[in-house]
Amino acid sequence: MCRDSLTFPRVLLQRAVRVVYVLRVTTRTIAIDELRTITVIGSGTMGAGIAHVAAIAGYAVQLFDAAAGAAAAGLGRIEKNLAKGVELGKLTAADRDAALARIRPCDDLAAACTHTDCAIEAVPEVIALKREIFAAIDRAAPEHALLATNTSSLPISEIATSVRAPSRLVGMHFFNPVHVMKLVEIVRHTGSDPAAVSLAVSLAEKLGKTPITVADSPGFASSRLGLVIGLEAMRMVEQGVASPADIDTAMKLGYGHPMGPLELTDLVGLDVRLGIAEHLSTAIGPAFTPPAVLREKVAAGKLGKKTGEGFYRWSPDGKRLG
Ligand code: CAA
Repeated sequence: MCRDSLTFPRVLLQRAVRVVYVLRVTTRTIAIDELRTITVIGSGTMGAGIAHVAAIAGYAVQLFDAAAGAAAAGLGRIEKNLAKGVELGKLTAADRDAALARIRPCDDLAAACTHTDCAIEAVPEVIALKREIFAAIDRAAPEHALLATNTSSLPISEIATSVRAPSRLVGMHFFNPVHVMKLVEIVRHTGSDPAAVSLAVSLAEKLGKTPITVADSPGFASSRLGLVIGLEAMRMVEQGVASPADIDTAMKLGYGHPMGPLELTDLVGLDVRLGIAEHLSTAIGPAFTPPAVLREKVAAGKLGKKTGEGFYRWSPDGKRLG
C-alpha cells in the first residue's frame, strides 16, 4: 500500500509513541505490597462479592456502577453477607465495621479510577460493553494500575486491545458466591506482561483465594468444564431422563459435588449460562449448543434464584421451594 509523504512519518511517530507508552507501563508494574486501592466496576452479584473480599483483606475499595443507586444496593448486599459472617463466627463485628468503612460506592467511573492501583471489571458478559468500559478506565487510571476482567469466557486478548497497553490487562475470574468460593482463575493472553500475571496471582492470594493460571482459550478451564455438565443436565431434563431434583442428587451423592448442575444454574443465572453457551458453541462447537429448555426459560424471564424461578422455584429470601 502506498503512503503519502505526510502520512508515513505520522504513522511511524504514532507507532513509536505507542511502543514507548507500552514499555513505560510494562516496566511500572507495582509490587503486591504497594497495591492498596481497588476499584470494582459493576456492583452486581460478582462485583459486590469482589468488593466484599477486597475490603475484608484490608484494601480501600471504590465500588462503581453506572445505574443510579446500584452501587449503594451492592453495598447493602455486602452488609448482609458480612452480618451473616459475624453470625457464623467467621469475623468479628469490628472486622465487619472496618470492612464496610473501606468501601465507597461511586457512580463516576473516572473518579473511581483516578487513584486506583487495580481495576477489576465485573459488568455483564457483552464484549462491546467491556471494551468500552476498559477504554474509559484506561483514560482515567494511573499507568501502574493492574487491569483485570472477571469475564467467565470472553477472549481476554480481545478485551485487552481496548486499552493502550494490553500487557497490563489479565483475567481474574471469581466464583459465585465470591465470599465463600476459594478459586480465582487468572487468565493470561499472549500479550500479557508476566509481571501483571504474577501481581494478579499475588492479589488473589491476598484476597484469601487459591489462584490457578490458565491460557486465554474459550471458557478457560472452569467455565468450559462446568458448562458441559450443566448443559447436558438440561438436555436430560428435556429428554425426561430424570427430574431436575434427581439429576442434581445424582451429582451430589454420586460424585460429591456440593450442588447439582441445575441448582447451580439457578444460582449463577440462566441468562448468564445462556450467554456463555452461545459464545462457546461458536468458539468450540456443538457440545455447547444451548438446549431449547434454557432458551425458553430465559425468554420467559425465569432466570433462576434472582427472579424466583429457574429449574426450581425460590422464595424472596433465597430458599428453594421445589
Ligand atoms: N461469610 C463468611 N463465610 C460464610 C458466609 C458468609 N456470609 N456464608 C457461608 N460462609 C461459609 C460457611 O461458614 C462455611 O464455611 P466452612 O466450610 O468453614 O464451614 C462455607 O462458607 C459454606 O457455607 P455453608 O455451609 O453455609 O453453605 P453450604 O454448605 O450450603 O454451601 C455453597 C453453599 C458454598 C454455595 C455450596 O453449595 C457450593 O459450593 N456450591 C457450588 C457453588 C459453585 O459451584 N459456584 C461456582 C459457580 S460458577 C461461577 O460462579 C463462575 C461463572 O463464571 C458463572
